[in-house]
Amino acid sequence: MSSPADATGVRTALWDLPVRVIHWSFVVLIPALWWTAENDRMALHMQIGTVLLQLLVIRVLWGCVGGSTARFAAFVRGPGAMLAYLRGKTDAAAAGHNPAGGWSVIALLGLMGLQVTLGLFSGDEDDGAVGPLNHLVSFRTADRASNLHGLVFYAILALIALHLAAIVYYRVVRRDRLITPMVTGKRVLPAGTPGLVHAPAWRFFACVVVAWLVGWAIWSGVKV
Ligand code: HEM
Repeated sequence: MSSPADATGVRTALWDLPVRVIHWSFVVLIPALWWTAENDRMALHMQIGTVLLQLLVIRVLWGCVGGSTARFAAFVRGPGAMLAYLRGKTDAAAAGHNPAGGWSVIALLGLMGLQVTLGLFSGDEDDGAVGPLNHLVSFRTADRASNLHGLVFYAILALIALHLAAIVYYRVVRRDRLITPMVTGKRVLPAGTPGLVHAPAWRFFACVVVAWLVGWAIWSGVKV
């Protein structure tokens, strides 16, 4: 599968297909969610929001049972490892997320999870669109959820800005391209660096089924 790329490195499988497709889906869906909310296309906003929620469910499950570099256990490291990495004391050329990148993934997934959860309860039924679980909470709670839903969006934007700044830093200072591997799934790594170990496809389909059931429960099963 891998072929020699230069004198010191080999092209090695790094990110599996589910990780890449879900990543680029977020890139498309987050601006779409902003645009639909700003232009009062709330039915579409909630449909896209539900798809994003389902993708988050798949990503979290894939982080437990997916390919080796997708797994949280492979990239969530303690504060010591992260500080050592930031001080340049560890080898950056390992397959998968470095400790700082790993925590940025957790922060982004966590904030998006919070945002979709708030969206489910948001809105005012006397004035505009309401999320599919809005009827389960009081008016006051829904109002708080709506306000937070507006605010958390800015926190997501701030994290995305940090993420983009890190990509530019790696490109310019460390001469390391992070975007190409997220497209092709491969990266040049020192010979002998262990690459991605794929998970069987049935596990991915099981994650999709669970995510579909969650979407179904939110829109019909829970509503009585
Ligand atoms: C990462 C995912 C999401 C993003 C980035 C997002 C973004 C936004 C933004 C920017 C607004 C406008 C807030 C304002 O004007 O103050 C909004 C409003 C809203 N969103 Fe989302 N949203 C997401 C997911 C969802 C989901 C999953 C649902 C429900 C299925 C949802 C339901 C709503 C509702 C009902 C409103 C109107 C709230 C109000 O009346 O103030 N959103 N969203």
